[in-house]
Amino acid sequence: MSSQPAILVEGLCKSYRLGRQDLHVLRGVSFSVAPGEFVAVVGASGSGKSTLLHLVGLLDRPDRGQVILDGRDAAALSAMRRNDMRCREVGFVFQFYHLFTELNVLDNALLPARVGTSLIAWPSRRGTLRRRARGLLEQMGLQGRLKHRPSELSGGERQRLAIARALMNEPKILLADEPTGNLDSGTGRKILNVLEDCNRRGQTILVVTHDASIAAEAHRTLHLTDGRITDPKR
Ligand SMILES: Nc1ncnc2c1ncn2[C@@H]1O[C@H](COP(=O)(O)OP(=O)(O)O)[C@@H](O)[C@H]1O
Ligand SMILES: [Mg+2]
Repeated sequence: MSSQPAILVEGLCKSYRLGRQDLHVLRGVSFSVAPGEFVAVVGASGSGKSTLLHLVGLLDRPDRGQVILDGRDAAALSAMRRNDMRCREVGFVFQFYHLFTELNVLDNALLPARVGTSLIAWPSRRGTLRRRARGLLEQMGLQGRLKHRPSELSGGERQRLAIARALMNEPKILLADEPTGNLDSGTGRKILNVLEDCNRRGQTILVVTHDASIAAEAHRTLHLTDGRITDPKR
C-alpha cells in the first residue's frame, strides 16, 4: 500500500457567479483520504457536496486550492493527461445515474473501457473487457439483465449498473454522489452493502450524502458546513 493519500485536497475554494453576486460555496476545504479508506462527507442540501465531488473527480476546476490524486497534482497536468486520469483513476457514481438510454446494460458498463481504449487496440481487448464488464455486472446482481435498457431497470438496478460502470476501468478511487438518495431505504441499504463489498476488496471510496445513517457505515465522516470541513478527529 502506498504511503501517500489516495486523495488530498488543500484549501479548495469555489464560487458561482449569480448575477452581480458571488456565491461562495467552498471556502477552503482540506482533507485527505488514505488508500483503502471509506470516507463520507455529510452536509445539508445546498452545502456544496456535489460541487466538492466534481472538483475531486476532475469534472470541474477550483478557483483556488489543490486536488492531488495518488500524489499527482491535477492542475499541473495537460488537458490530455487530466482527461486520461479522470478516465482511468476515478470512478464517478452520479446522483441521477446518467446512464445511456440507447445502450443496453452490458454496453453501458463497457463504455468507460471503450473511451479508455484506442480504436486500434479495441478489437484485441474487446473480449477481455466484455468479460470484465460481465463479471462486474454479476457482482452487482445484474447478470440476468445484460440486454435490458436502463429504462427497463428499477432504481436500485440502475444504481448498481452505475457502480459497475464506475468500476470498469479499475479506478483507484470511487466517488459517489448521494448513491442512495433516490432509493427507498431497503434498496438504499443494498447499495450501501455493494459499496462496503467494494471497499473490503480494497477500493478507496469517497461518498457525499445528506443522510447521516449512510455516513455511519463509513470509516470516517467529515462534515461540510459553511463551505468548510469540520472533523474533530482530523
Ligand atoms: N452551476 C452553478 N451555478 C450557480 N450556482 C450553483 C451551481 N451549482 C451549484 N450551485 C449552488 O451552489 C450551492 C451548492 O450546490 P451543490 O454543490 O449542488 O450542493 P449539494 O450537493 O450539497 O446539495 C447551492 O446553493 C447551489 O444552488
Ligand atoms: Mg448534490
